[in-house]
Amino acid sequence: MESTFRGRDVISIRDFSREELEYIFDVADEMESIYRSGTDVLRGKILASLFFEPSTRTRLSFETAMIKLGGGVVGFAEPDISSVKKGENLADTVRVVESYADVIVLRHPLEGAARLAAEYVNIPVINAGSGAEEHPTQALLDIYTIRRELGRVDSLNIGILGDLRYGRTVHSLCIGLTNYDVKLFLISPELLRLRREFLEEVKKKVEVVETDRLERVIDKLDVLYVTRIQKERFADLAEYEKVRGAYRVDLDILQRAKESLIVMHPLPRVEEIDPEVDYTPHARYFDQVRYGVLVRMSLLKLILSG
Ligand code: NCD
Repeated sequence: MESTFRGRDVISIRDFSREELEYIFDVADEMESIYRSGTDVLRGKILASLFFEPSTRTRLSFETAMIKLGGGVVGFAEPDISSVKKGENLADTVRVVESYADVIVLRHPLEGAARLAAEYVNIPVINAGSGAEEHPTQALLDIYTIRRELGRVDSLNIGILGDLRYGRTVHSLCIGLTNYDVKLFLISPELLRLRREFLEEVKKKVEVVETDRLERVIDKLDVLYVTRIQKERFADLAEYEKVRGAYRVDLDILQRAKESLIVMHPLPRVEEIDPEVDYTPHARYFDQVRYGVLVRMSLLKLILSG
């Protein structure tokens, strides 16, 4: 199995079979002890993180993962101070970076950006978010969190709440979960529903229930994955104002949930989870951050070692 990962791009969660997902998670389990002590398996390797959009977690998580494995990191998080500001196009930027690095981690506002970059270079490209389209490594860490916290992914009722239209983490997570035997509850205001053609794709593989009211389904859920409204992706801010504050998870609603329910969120959160929820046994969003480093260590090791 190990050799199927070497040198591979990670553009979409669709790139992975269930067996491959499980293998990445098994290796992530092994990373727990390496995370504490560090290792030098990737000594001499360099990760370039190219972030054309804001990020805290994803960039720092990849960089931490690389450093823990003994590798080095270069890159930019402010394209305004790189040559992009002078008008350099993405293809040129990645072709230049290829001379410095062994792997590129790219976040870009345009859908298809990671795939395009991968066509121009021979080193692996990892998609760290491409517009509203995909965020495959977030889906990996989300599914890993469910596996770690609940011991399995199969036969769970998983609710995904919020901006299903523009949320790239939602898109990757839905597709990733189609590898498992789950029931999906898609909960959002009408305006933020999953795109129809995308919904059809998901429905072919797993059972889906759509609703605009969390109250109607909260008691059935094993996982509630909450997302932020992606304000920056609205072409018309008046549309955003219509849905702003349309949902919020608080102690009140959680009273109706299973005791074992876990609440997840890719972060950053804005108003959609009351901070009081942080102190309940349901909250798992900060654990996700920790698991994210293990999953990215696993992925980098599999792609770059050997
Ligand atoms: C997400 C993203 O960038 O898509 N953040 C993340 O990577 N954890 C979610 C978001 O911005 O809402």
